[in-house]
Amino acid sequence: MRHLLGIESLKKDTLTVILENADKFVELSERTIKKAPALRGKTIINLFLEPSTRTRASFEIAGKRLSADTINITGSSSSTTKGETLLDTGRTLQSMNPDVLVVRHRASGAAHFLAQYLSKTSVVNAGDGMHEHPTQALLDLLTLKQRLEGVQKELSGLTIAIVGDVLHSRVARSNILAHQLLGNKIRLVGPPTLVPDEFRSANCFGSEVEISHDLSQGIEGADVVYVLRLQHERQTENFIPSVDEYSREFCVTESILSASAPDCVVMHPGPANRGVEISSVVHDGDRSLIAQQVKNGVAVRMAVLFQLITRGEEARVE
Ligand code: NCD
Repeated sequence: MRHLLGIESLKKDTLTVILENADKFVELSERTIKKAPALRGKTIINLFLEPSTRTRASFEIAGKRLSADTINITGSSSSTTKGETLLDTGRTLQSMNPDVLVVRHRASGAAHFLAQYLSKTSVVNAGDGMHEHPTQALLDLLTLKQRLEGVQKELSGLTIAIVGDVLHSRVARSNILAHQLLGNKIRLVGPPTLVPDEFRSANCFGSEVEISHDLSQGIEGADVVYVLRLQHERQTENFIPSVDEYSREFCVTESILSASAPDCVVMHPGPANRGVEISSVVHDGDRSLIAQQVKNGVAVRMAVLFQLITRGEEARVE
């Protein structure tokens, strides 16, 4: 693996190795001294041209825990505000010889574009527009794997209901591809404007994906209810009559979960809008894996950086 651009191009074997290595890095992150020398002397640049709290902080912590030198560049502090193109910014940074460039950008395809032109640097897609967010899907899988430990061995045969603004969500896309790779069933739930029937077409997610425009029906019997934020920043027209009306129909509350999916766990990539797509009771409640997702973000990103830089060695944490 030279770059991590999306789940679409990831092989199942590589995905499994990343999750196995991430398990070891979870353990490292719980020690008093949370540091291993694995990436000493390596340089990682985080180029974040869109807002981020979790992803940016966890990539930085991940690099530091593996002893790499990490630097962060954000939109407002970069020369892109002076008119420099993304490619020129990428080439400028590559001249400083980093091992990995982690990129977040509002344009779908931005990470692929850079990867095509940068010959010496590995590129990690940390979210490109409405396209993919592969490390989010990987940390979500790690979280589910931990949850299933002792209950079932394989991360397959589950029903995953993804609720909300699927149309504009790179998180949804990467999760759908990852669950399809593992053999889980996907249900997409939301208003027709945000969950169009075209998602079931052959050139999208295929006819195995189920679609529901009714929250109670869509989550019925689901093992996982994965809630999404309304991506206002990517919505170009009025997809919902009002936020109030959206939450009346699609806010995930404890009463809906107890009635339709009593045994489910709840996930959300964050940031959440409490009371809009998820109630506070559910967000902070017993079925919520949200804090665990954030925690696993560090370990998964350690595993991804390790995989790219060592080209697939087995992680050994002494
Ligand atoms: C997501 C993103 O940026 O795509 N957040 C994240 O990385 N945890 C989801 C979102 O912004 O809604």
